[in-house]
Amino acid sequence: MDAKVLAACKAAFEATGDSLTLGAPLYAGQCAPEPLVRVPLAMMNRHGLIAGATGTGKTKTLQLMAEQLSTTGVPVFLADLKGYGGMSKPTVGVLQRKMVELEQQGALAFFGEPEFDLDDLMQTERDGRGLVSILELSDAQDKPALFSTFMMWMLARLYNALPEVGDVDKPKLVFFFDEAHLLFDGASKAFLNEVEQVVRLIRSKGVGIFFVTQTPKDVPADVLAQLGHRVQHALRAFTPNDQKALSATAKTFPNSDFYDIEEVLTTLGIGEAMVTVLSAKGVPSQPFATRLIPPASRMGPLTDAELQQRVGSSAQVRKYRDPVNPPSAEEKLRGAGSSGAAAGADAPSRPSALEEVLRSPVGRSVARTVAVTVAGALTRGLMGALMGKRRRY
Ligand SMILES: Nc1ncnc2c1ncn2[C@@H]1O[C@H](COP(=O)(O)OP(=O)(O)O)[C@@H](O)[C@H]1O
Ligand SMILES: [Mg+2]
Repeated sequence: MDAKVLAACKAAFEATGDSLTLGAPLYAGQCAPEPLVRVPLAMMNRHGLIAGATGTGKTKTLQLMAEQLSTTGVPVFLADLKGYGGMSKPTVGVLQRKMVELEQQGALAFFGEPEFDLDDLMQTERDGRGLVSILELSDAQDKPALFSTFMMWMLARLYNALPEVGDVDKPKLVFFFDEAHLLFDGASKAFLNEVEQVVRLIRSKGVGIFFVTQTPKDVPADVLAQLGHRVQHALRAFTPNDQKALSATAKTFPNSDFYDIEEVLTTLGIGEAMVTVLSAKGVPSQPFATRLIPPASRMGPLTDAELQQRVGSSAQVRKYRDPVNPPSAEEKLRGAGSSGAAAGADAPSRPSALEEVLRSPVGRSVARTVAVTVAGALTRGLMGALMGKRRRY
Protein backbone atom coordinates (compact mmCIF):
# COMPACT_ATOMS: atom_id res chain seq x y z
CA MET A 1 0.00 0.00 0.00
CA ASP A 2 1.11 3.56 -0.76
CA ALA A 3 3.59 4.71 1.91
CA LYS A 4 1.88 8.10 2.15
CA VAL A 5 -1.46 6.45 2.95
CA LEU A 6 0.15 4.27 5.60
CA ALA A 7 1.92 7.19 7.21
CA ALA A 8 -1.27 9.29 7.29
CA CYS A 9 -3.20 6.39 8.77
CA LYS A 10 -0.57 5.89 11.46
CA ALA A 11 -0.79 9.57 12.34
CA ALA A 12 -4.61 9.49 12.37
CA PHE A 13 -4.91 6.63 14.85
CA GLU A 14 -1.83 7.16 16.99
CA ALA A 15 -2.66 6.19 20.56
CA THR A 16 -0.53 7.03 23.55
CA GLY A 17 -2.67 5.34 26.20
CA ASP A 18 -4.96 2.31 25.94
CA SER A 19 -7.17 2.05 22.89
CA LEU A 20 -9.82 -0.09 21.26
CA THR A 21 -8.70 -1.74 18.04
CA LEU A 22 -11.26 -1.61 15.27
CA GLY A 23 -9.33 -3.02 12.32
CA ALA A 24 -6.83 -2.31 9.58
CA PRO A 25 -6.85 0.18 6.70
CA LEU A 26 -8.17 -0.55 3.22
CA TYR A 27 -6.96 1.35 0.21
CA ALA A 28 -7.16 0.67 -3.52
CA GLY A 29 -8.43 -2.85 -2.93
CA GLN A 30 -5.69 -3.76 -0.47
CA CYS A 31 -5.79 -4.26 3.29
CA ALA A 32 -2.59 -3.43 5.18
CA PRO A 33 -1.93 -5.39 8.39
CA GLU A 34 -0.82 -2.19 10.08
CA PRO A 35 -1.08 0.56 11.25
CA LEU A 36 -4.16 -0.39 13.25
CA VAL A 37 -7.30 1.72 13.23
CA ARG A 38 -7.93 2.52 16.88
CA VAL A 39 -10.02 4.66 19.22
CA PRO A 40 -8.27 6.06 22.29
CA LEU A 41 -9.98 4.61 25.36
CA ALA A 42 -9.75 7.98 27.08
CA MET A 43 -11.91 9.46 24.32
CA MET A 44 -14.73 6.94 24.55
CA ASN A 45 -16.81 9.44 26.54
CA ARG A 46 -16.79 11.71 23.50
CA HIS A 47 -19.62 9.67 21.99
CA GLY A 48 -20.01 8.13 18.57
CA LEU A 49 -22.14 6.98 15.70
CA ILE A 50 -22.19 3.55 14.07
CA ALA A 51 -24.17 3.79 10.84
CA GLY A 52 -24.83 1.86 7.64
CA ALA A 53 -27.46 -0.03 5.68
CA THR A 54 -29.07 -3.13 7.18
CA GLY A 55 -26.77 -6.14 7.18
CA THR A 56 -23.54 -4.22 6.72
CA GLY A 57 -22.13 -5.06 10.16
CA LYS A 58 -23.26 -2.31 12.57
CA THR A 59 -24.25 -4.65 15.37
CA LYS A 60 -20.99 -6.61 14.97
CA THR A 61 -19.09 -3.33 15.33
CA LEU A 62 -21.06 -2.58 18.48
CA GLN A 63 -20.15 -6.04 19.75
CA LEU A 64 -16.49 -5.55 18.91
CA MET A 65 -16.37 -2.29 20.84
CA ALA A 66 -18.40 -3.64 23.76
CA GLU A 67 -16.21 -6.70 24.24
CA GLN A 68 -13.00 -4.65 24.20
CA LEU A 69 -14.45 -2.13 26.64
CA SER A 70 -15.36 -4.99 28.93
CA THR A 71 -11.87 -6.45 28.64
CA THR A 72 -10.36 -3.16 29.78
CA GLY A 73 -12.72 -3.07 32.78
CA VAL A 74 -15.31 -0.65 31.41
CA PRO A 75 -18.96 -1.57 32.03
CA VAL A 76 -21.25 -1.42 29.01
CA PHE A 77 -24.99 -1.03 28.67
CA LEU A 78 -26.79 -1.97 25.50
CA ALA A 79 -30.39 -2.14 24.49
CA ASP A 80 -31.12 -5.25 22.50
CA LEU A 81 -34.19 -4.67 20.40
CA LYS A 82 -33.33 -7.26 17.80
CA GLY A 83 -34.40 -10.92 17.39
CA TYR A 84 -38.01 -9.70 17.55
CA GLY A 85 -38.30 -8.80 13.66
CA GLY A 86 -37.66 -5.10 14.04
CA MET A 87 -39.91 -2.44 15.41
CA SER A 88 -43.06 -0.86 14.13
CA LYS A 89 -43.21 2.89 13.99
CA PRO A 90 -42.55 3.81 17.59
CA THR A 91 -41.76 7.42 18.25
CA VAL A 92 -41.17 9.91 20.92
CA GLY A 93 -44.17 11.63 19.39
CA VAL A 94 -46.10 8.56 20.36
CA LEU A 95 -44.57 8.86 23.78
CA GLN A 96 -45.77 12.38 24.13
CA ARG A 97 -49.25 11.72 22.86
CA LYS A 98 -49.88 8.49 24.62
CA MET A 99 -48.08 8.73 27.88
CA VAL A 100 -51.07 7.59 29.75
CA GLU A 101 -50.66 4.23 28.08
CA LEU A 102 -47.38 3.78 29.89
CA GLU A 103 -49.13 2.39 32.85
CA GLN A 104 -50.80 -0.25 30.74
CA GLN A 105 -47.45 -0.96 29.14
CA GLY A 106 -46.01 -2.02 32.43
CA ALA A 107 -44.13 1.14 33.32
CA LEU A 108 -44.69 0.45 36.95
CA ALA A 109 -42.67 -2.71 36.65
CA PHE A 110 -39.75 -0.62 35.36
CA PHE A 111 -40.21 2.29 37.69
CA GLY A 112 -41.51 0.21 40.58
CA GLU A 113 -39.72 -1.36 43.51
CA PRO A 114 -37.14 -2.63 44.10
CA GLU A 115 -35.87 0.31 42.13
CA PHE A 116 -33.27 -0.24 39.49
CA ASP A 117 -29.94 0.50 41.14
CA LEU A 118 -27.53 2.27 38.80
CA ASP A 119 -24.59 0.84 40.73
CA ASP A 120 -25.60 -2.51 39.29
CA LEU A 121 -24.68 -1.20 35.83
CA MET A 122 -21.30 0.11 36.90
CA GLN A 123 -19.83 -3.21 38.02
CA THR A 124 -16.68 -5.04 37.14
CA GLU A 125 -16.50 -8.80 37.43
CA ARG A 126 -14.12 -10.51 39.83
CA ASP A 127 -11.69 -11.06 36.96
CA GLY A 128 -11.67 -7.29 36.26
CA ARG A 129 -13.87 -7.33 33.18
CA GLY A 130 -16.54 -4.65 32.87
CA LEU A 131 -20.07 -5.95 33.21
CA VAL A 132 -22.08 -5.93 29.97
CA SER A 133 -25.74 -5.26 30.74
CA ILE A 134 -28.25 -5.93 28.01
CA LEU A 135 -31.76 -4.56 28.16
CA GLU A 136 -33.84 -7.08 26.31
CA LEU A 137 -37.26 -5.83 25.34
CA SER A 138 -38.93 -8.94 24.06
CA ASP A 139 -41.96 -7.11 22.69
CA ALA A 140 -40.48 -3.68 22.24
CA GLN A 141 -42.51 -2.93 19.12
CA ASP A 142 -45.59 -2.72 21.30
CA LYS A 143 -43.89 -0.49 23.83
CA PRO A 144 -42.12 2.36 22.08
CA ALA A 145 -43.13 4.90 24.69
CA LEU A 146 -41.81 2.73 27.45
CA PHE A 147 -38.52 2.20 25.67
CA SER A 148 -37.84 5.88 24.99
CA THR A 149 -38.94 6.98 28.42
CA PHE A 150 -36.88 4.37 30.18
CA MET A 151 -33.77 5.24 28.22
CA MET A 152 -34.09 8.96 28.88
CA TRP A 153 -34.88 8.26 32.49
CA MET A 154 -31.76 6.13 32.86
CA LEU A 155 -29.55 8.77 31.27
CA ALA A 156 -31.01 11.58 33.34
CA ARG A 157 -30.59 9.50 36.48
CA LEU A 158 -27.02 8.64 35.60
CA TYR A 159 -26.32 12.27 34.92
CA ASN A 160 -27.64 13.23 38.32
CA ALA A 161 -26.06 10.40 40.27
CA LEU A 162 -22.52 10.51 38.92
CA PRO A 163 -19.84 12.97 40.03
CA GLU A 164 -18.07 15.29 37.58
CA VAL A 165 -14.87 13.58 36.48
CA GLY A 166 -13.61 15.75 33.63
CA ASP A 167 -11.03 13.95 31.53
CA VAL A 168 -10.65 10.25 32.26
CA ASP A 169 -8.21 7.47 31.37
CA LYS A 170 -11.18 5.38 30.48
CA PRO A 171 -14.94 5.90 30.61
CA LYS A 172 -17.04 4.90 33.63
CA LEU A 173 -19.74 3.40 31.43
CA VAL A 174 -20.55 3.25 27.74
CA PHE A 175 -24.09 3.12 26.40
CA PHE A 176 -25.02 1.74 23.00
CA PHE A 177 -28.42 2.57 21.51
CA ASP A 178 -29.04 0.15 18.67
CA GLU A 179 -31.89 1.16 16.34
CA ALA A 180 -31.42 4.69 17.63
CA HIS A 181 -33.83 6.25 15.15
CA LEU A 182 -36.57 4.94 17.41
CA LEU A 183 -35.60 7.50 19.98
CA PHE A 184 -35.89 10.40 17.60
CA ASP A 185 -38.66 9.61 15.11
CA GLY A 186 -41.34 12.23 15.37
CA ALA A 187 -39.92 13.73 18.56
CA SER A 188 -40.78 17.30 19.45
CA LYS A 189 -38.14 20.01 19.30
CA ALA A 190 -38.31 20.36 23.04
CA PHE A 191 -37.65 16.68 23.65
CA LEU A 192 -34.74 16.69 21.19
CA ASN A 193 -33.27 19.63 23.06
CA GLU A 194 -33.35 17.60 26.23
CA VAL A 195 -31.64 14.66 24.55
CA GLU A 196 -29.03 17.02 23.13
CA GLN A 197 -28.45 18.53 26.57
CA VAL A 198 -28.06 15.18 28.32
CA VAL A 199 -25.72 13.90 25.60
CA ARG A 200 -23.61 17.04 25.85
CA LEU A 201 -23.39 17.10 29.62
CA ILE A 202 -23.03 13.43 30.46
CA ARG A 203 -19.57 13.15 28.96
CA SER A 204 -18.15 15.15 31.87
CA LYS A 205 -19.41 12.32 34.07
CA GLY A 206 -17.30 9.84 32.13
CA VAL A 207 -20.24 8.27 30.30
CA GLY A 208 -20.00 7.62 26.55
CA ILE A 209 -23.01 7.17 24.28
CA PHE A 210 -22.97 5.47 20.90
CA PHE A 211 -25.92 5.63 18.56
CA VAL A 212 -26.35 2.83 16.05
CA THR A 213 -28.61 3.55 13.09
CA GLN A 214 -28.79 3.53 9.30
CA THR A 215 -27.74 7.04 8.33
CA PRO A 216 -26.52 10.10 10.22
CA LYS A 217 -29.72 11.88 9.26
CA ASP A 218 -31.61 9.60 11.66
CA VAL A 219 -29.91 11.57 14.43
CA PRO A 220 -30.84 15.23 15.02
CA ALA A 221 -28.10 17.64 13.91
CA ASP A 222 -27.48 18.99 17.41
CA VAL A 223 -26.95 15.49 18.74
CA LEU A 224 -24.91 14.42 15.72
CA ALA A 225 -22.56 17.34 16.32
CA GLN A 226 -21.71 15.78 19.72
CA LEU A 227 -20.62 12.45 18.25
CA GLY A 228 -16.86 12.48 17.88
CA HIS A 229 -16.34 8.97 16.56
CA ARG A 230 -17.88 7.70 13.34
CA VAL A 231 -17.93 4.16 12.04
CA GLN A 232 -19.86 4.42 8.79
CA HIS A 233 -20.62 1.11 7.12
CA ALA A 234 -21.78 0.79 3.52
CA LEU A 235 -24.73 2.73 2.19
CA ARG A 236 -26.81 1.87 -0.83
CA ALA A 237 -27.60 4.37 -3.56
CA PHE A 238 -30.54 2.82 -5.42
CA THR A 239 -32.97 5.71 -5.37
CA PRO A 240 -32.59 9.51 -5.62
CA ASN A 241 -33.36 9.66 -1.90
CA ASP A 242 -30.59 7.14 -1.16
CA GLN A 243 -28.26 9.24 -3.27
CA LYS A 244 -29.13 12.35 -1.29
CA ALA A 245 -28.60 10.57 2.02
CA LEU A 246 -25.27 9.27 0.73
CA SER A 247 -24.02 12.72 -0.27
CA ALA A 248 -25.18 14.17 3.03
CA THR A 249 -23.39 11.39 4.93
CA ALA A 250 -20.16 11.89 2.98
CA LYS A 251 -20.28 15.59 3.83
CA THR A 252 -20.34 14.85 7.57
CA PHE A 253 -16.82 13.40 7.30
CA PRO A 254 -13.59 15.33 7.67
CA ASN A 255 -11.79 15.76 4.35
CA SER A 256 -9.69 12.92 3.05
CA ASP A 257 -6.47 13.28 1.09
CA PHE A 258 -6.94 9.80 -0.33
CA TYR A 259 -10.54 8.71 -0.73
CA ASP A 260 -13.62 9.77 -2.64
CA ILE A 261 -15.76 9.18 0.43
CA GLU A 262 -19.06 8.99 -1.41
CA GLU A 263 -17.73 6.35 -3.74
CA VAL A 264 -16.08 4.34 -0.98
CA LEU A 265 -19.29 4.28 1.05
CA THR A 266 -21.14 2.46 -1.74
CA THR A 267 -18.38 -0.08 -2.33
CA LEU A 268 -17.53 -1.15 1.24
CA GLY A 269 -18.13 -4.83 1.97
CA ILE A 270 -19.81 -6.34 5.03
CA GLY A 271 -17.66 -5.71 8.10
CA GLU A 272 -15.92 -2.76 6.46
CA ALA A 273 -16.47 0.91 7.31
CA MET A 274 -15.20 4.43 6.89
CA VAL A 275 -13.77 5.41 10.27
CA THR A 276 -12.91 8.75 11.81
CA VAL A 277 -12.21 9.16 15.51
CA LEU A 278 -11.42 11.94 17.92
CA SER A 279 -7.72 11.68 18.58
CA ALA A 280 -6.28 11.80 22.09
CA LYS A 281 -5.84 15.54 21.48
CA GLY A 282 -9.53 15.89 20.68
CA VAL A 283 -8.98 16.47 16.96
CA PRO A 284 -11.06 14.57 14.36
CA SER A 285 -8.79 12.20 12.45
CA GLN A 286 -8.70 11.85 8.69
CA PRO A 287 -11.16 9.13 7.73
CA PHE A 288 -9.87 5.74 6.62
CA ALA A 289 -11.68 2.83 5.06
CA THR A 290 -11.24 -0.01 7.52
CA ARG A 291 -11.71 -3.75 7.57
CA LEU A 292 -13.09 -4.46 11.02
CA ILE A 293 -11.95 -7.31 13.19
CA PRO A 294 -14.66 -9.90 13.80
CA PRO A 295 -15.71 -9.92 17.47
CA ALA A 296 -14.39 -12.78 19.58
CA SER A 297 -17.38 -13.03 21.89
CA ARG A 298 -20.53 -14.93 21.20
CA MET A 299 -23.66 -12.86 20.71
CA GLY A 300 -26.68 -15.06 20.96
CA PRO A 301 -29.07 -16.73 23.36
CA LEU A 302 -27.71 -18.92 26.15
CA THR A 303 -28.64 -22.57 26.11
CA ASP A 304 -31.21 -23.58 28.72
CA ALA A 305 -28.49 -25.08 30.88
CA GLU A 306 -26.34 -21.95 30.70
CA LEU A 307 -29.33 -19.79 31.50
CA GLN A 308 -30.29 -21.88 34.53
CA GLN A 309 -26.73 -21.79 35.82
CA ARG A 310 -26.44 -18.04 35.48
CA VAL A 311 -29.86 -17.21 36.84
CA GLY A 312 -29.18 -19.51 39.78
CA SER A 313 -25.92 -17.82 40.69
CA SER A 314 -26.90 -14.20 39.98
CA ALA A 315 -27.05 -11.76 42.86
CA GLN A 316 -28.97 -9.37 40.63
CA VAL A 317 -31.67 -11.90 39.90
CA ARG A 318 -32.08 -12.42 43.65
CA LYS A 319 -32.25 -8.67 44.17
CA TYR A 320 -34.83 -7.84 41.52
CA ARG A 321 -36.84 -11.04 41.21
CA ASP A 322 -39.56 -10.19 43.67
CA PRO A 323 -41.40 -6.90 43.44
CA VAL A 324 -41.70 -5.28 46.83
CA ASN A 325 -44.63 -3.38 48.13
CA PRO A 326 -43.25 -0.31 49.90
CA PRO A 327 -45.25 0.85 52.91
CA SER A 328 -47.56 3.73 52.16
CA ALA A 329 -47.26 6.98 54.08
CA GLU A 330 -50.34 6.01 55.98
CA GLU A 331 -48.84 2.67 56.98
CA LYS A 332 -45.66 4.43 58.08
CA LEU A 333 -47.58 6.87 60.22
CA ARG A 334 -49.57 4.08 61.75
CA GLY A 335 -46.35 2.15 62.40
CA ALA A 336 -44.84 5.19 64.06
CA GLY A 337 -47.83 5.51 66.32
CA SER A 338 -47.75 1.94 67.57
CA SER A 339 -44.02 1.28 67.83
CA GLY A 340 -42.76 4.60 69.00
CA ALA A 341 -39.46 5.74 67.50
CA ALA A 342 -39.00 2.62 65.39
CA ALA A 343 -40.53 3.95 62.22
CA GLY A 344 -39.73 7.55 63.09
CA ALA A 345 -42.69 9.70 62.14
CA ASP A 346 -40.30 12.60 61.51
CA ALA A 347 -37.95 10.60 59.31
CA PRO A 348 -38.86 11.68 55.79
CA SER A 349 -39.78 8.77 53.56
CA ARG A 350 -37.09 8.12 50.97
CA PRO A 351 -38.02 9.65 47.63
CA SER A 352 -38.09 7.22 44.75
CA ALA A 353 -35.31 7.53 42.21
CA LEU A 354 -37.75 8.86 39.68
CA GLU A 355 -38.86 11.52 42.10
CA GLU A 356 -35.22 12.44 42.71
CA VAL A 357 -34.58 12.73 39.00
CA LEU A 358 -37.66 14.78 38.38
CA ARG A 359 -36.60 17.17 41.12
CA SER A 360 -33.08 17.57 39.73
CA PRO A 361 -32.31 20.29 37.16
CA VAL A 362 -32.15 17.96 34.18
CA GLY A 363 -35.07 15.96 35.46
CA ARG A 364 -37.09 19.09 36.00
CA SER A 365 -36.37 20.21 32.53
CA VAL A 366 -37.29 16.82 31.11
CA ALA A 367 -40.47 16.96 33.11
CA ARG A 368 -41.09 20.48 31.90
CA THR A 369 -40.70 19.40 28.30
CA VAL A 370 -43.11 16.63 28.89
CA ALA A 371 -45.43 19.03 30.61
CA VAL A 372 -45.48 21.58 27.83
CA THR A 373 -45.91 19.06 25.06
CA VAL A 374 -48.62 16.99 26.58
CA ALA A 375 -52.09 18.09 27.41
CA GLY A 376 -52.35 18.79 31.11
CA ALA A 377 -54.64 15.93 31.81
CA LEU A 378 -52.30 13.46 30.17
CA THR A 379 -49.35 14.78 32.12
CA ARG A 380 -51.18 14.48 35.38
CA GLY A 381 -52.11 10.99 34.34
CA LEU A 382 -48.50 10.01 33.71
CA MET A 383 -46.93 11.76 36.64
CA GLY A 384 -49.65 10.40 38.84
CA ALA A 385 -49.01 6.94 37.51
CA LEU A 386 -45.26 7.15 37.90
CA MET A 387 -44.89 9.12 41.07
CA GLY A 388 -47.95 8.50 43.11
CA LYS A 389 -49.51 5.13 42.79
CA ARG A 390 -47.62 1.97 43.42
CA ARG A 391 -48.68 -1.33 42.14
CA ARG A 392 -50.12 -3.54 44.87
CA TYR A 393 -49.26 -7.19 44.92
N1 LIG B 1 -16.65 -7.60 11.25
C1 LIG B 1 -17.27 -8.67 10.73
N2 LIG B 1 -16.60 -9.79 10.50
C2 LIG B 1 -17.22 -10.86 10.00
N3 LIG B 1 -18.53 -10.92 9.69
C3 LIG B 1 -19.26 -9.83 9.88
C4 LIG B 1 -18.68 -8.65 10.42
N4 LIG B 1 -19.65 -7.73 10.51
C5 LIG B 1 -20.78 -8.31 10.06
N5 LIG B 1 -20.56 -9.57 9.67
C6 LIG B 1 -21.56 -10.50 9.10
O1 LIG B 1 -22.68 -9.75 8.63
C7 LIG B 1 -23.87 -10.11 9.31
C8 LIG B 1 -24.73 -8.88 9.55
O2 LIG B 1 -24.07 -8.04 10.48
P1 LIG B 1 -24.86 -7.15 11.51
O3 LIG B 1 -23.85 -6.57 12.42
O4 LIG B 1 -25.97 -7.90 12.13
O5 LIG B 1 -25.47 -6.05 10.52
P2 LIG B 1 -26.39 -4.78 10.85
O6 LIG B 1 -26.44 -4.61 12.34
O7 LIG B 1 -25.72 -3.64 10.16
O8 LIG B 1 -27.73 -5.08 10.26
C9 LIG B 1 -23.39 -10.78 10.60
O9 LIG B 1 -24.31 -11.72 11.08
C10 LIG B 1 -22.10 -11.44 10.17
O10 LIG B 1 -22.36 -12.66 9.56
MG1 LIG C 1 -28.02 -4.54 13.66
